[in-house]
Order: sequence, then C-alpha cells, then structure tokens
Amino acid sequence: MRKKLFAANWKMFKTPAEATAFTEAFFPLVAGHKSAEIVLCPSMTSLGTVIAAAKGTHVHVGAQTMDYHDNGAYTGETSPVMLKAIAATHVILGHSERRQYFNETDTTVNLKLKAALAHGLVPIVCVGEHREERESGKTNEVLELQIRIALEGIDRAAAKPLVIAYEPVWAIGTGLTATPEMAADAHKFIRAEVAKALGSELAASTRILYGGSVKPDNAAALCALEDIDGALVGGASLDPKSFNDIIQNGC
Ligand code: G3H
Repeated sequence: MRKKLFAANWKMFKTPAEATAFTEAFFPLVAGHKSAEIVLCPSMTSLGTVIAAAKGTHVHVGAQTMDYHDNGAYTGETSPVMLKAIAATHVILGHSERRQYFNETDTTVNLKLKAALAHGLVPIVCVGEHREERESGKTNEVLELQIRIALEGIDRAAAKPLVIAYEPVWAIGTGLTATPEMAADAHKFIRAEVAKALGSELAASTRILYGGSVKPDNAAALCALEDIDGALVGGASLDPKSFNDIIQNGC
C-alpha cells in the first residue's frame, strides 16, 4: 500500500512573509487530513520560515534543488548537509526547469540522487518528455533513458524513499494535462523501468507522482489511476485553498 504524496513546488514565488501567510491559512485546512503525505517546497529564502511554521504539524518541507557535494567552493549552491541541518526532509531533483535553464542533466540528477539518499532526504526525481518527443512517438524512449541514468548505481537497500514525478514538459504551467490514459501508460512504463533498475519489490513500493497543470478539478480523475500516487503541483499550490482542494480530491 503506497501512501499518497502531494508536493507543492512554489518555484520562484513567495517571499518569507507571503510564505507565512500561506502556512497560516493552509495548516488549519489540512490539520485533520493525515492519510496523505504533504510536502511544501518553497524557495531557499523561505525554507527556514516554512520549516519553523510546520514544526508540530504533519506537513513536511523540502527544497526545490540542491548540489551533490557536501560542501565546497560552489558559489550559490546548497548542499544536502545544509538541508538536513535545517530539518528539510524532501528535495526535488531534475525538474524540467532546472534541466532547461540551469544545465541539469541525467548525470547530475544521478549524483544528486545518490547524495540525497546518503543524507536521508526523500528525493523526488522528475522525468518527462517534451511535446515534440511525444508527437514523434519517443515518450517511452525518453523516459527509459532518464530513469536508467538517474538510477544507475543506486544501492537498492538505500533506495526505499525514492519518489519519481512524471511531468510531461508540455503540460507544465500550460493548462494542458495528460489525459488519464496517457498518464496511466507513462506511470506503468516508469514503474516497469524502476523494476528493471531496482527490482520489482522496490518498484511496487516506489511512489510515482503526476505533475503538469494539476488543479482541484482534475486531481480526482488523475489520482484514482492505479499507478498514480499523488501529485507534484506548481501554480495551483500557491493558493492554500486550491492546494488543499487538490489533496482532498486526490485522496
Ligand atoms: O513542479 C511542478 C510542475 O512543474 C507543474 O507545474 O502545476 O504549474 O503545471 P504546474
């Protein structure tokens, strides 16, 4: 039985004051809702504020990216050691915006995944195809490569916390969503690829989230599918009521 997970990726939105306004409105809404794992991923400048606010609640807080070194001369970066030290619990890795604008590759995702697992962070590894790749029938080829490289050399014993997010790039922030059929096929394929890399037992317990224009009115249909274990939500997670509605409808 996989526990559903709903993660809010706030991207580069919200100052600490705005993050506080969100948590003050959101925590009472989800206080009685303990069947799903809920994660807020604010920007680095709001991470400490949100972690302090979440203390004593069942809401987790994670980062949107990290470096794979423990420390060093890497100006502007944040390490897994630093995230653990402030009690962050999750980290998003390989988001398509990181791949597109900040040169993140499957190889760096693999290094970051190893570092996150070694430091006890729950990694949410993002994969997904571009529109042209889907239109030319290459979706599975792209997913296979992304997953194979991301999971290369991952120790099975350490991989239990692994979470994967399937985010078709053409669905991110566009209002377009994968049809339930497309999402179901992709999630099934991803689980089979995880089984190839890490074994079927681990694949069966790995949570695979859907991301890409998830809203309160499509969360139920997507999350009802067998291989969809929750959602990674961008735009609609910026509003406490709308993110709460996604969680309630998706469970
Ligand atoms: O990480 C979240 C995804 O990029 C989805 O963003 O819900 O705004 O489409 P979106």
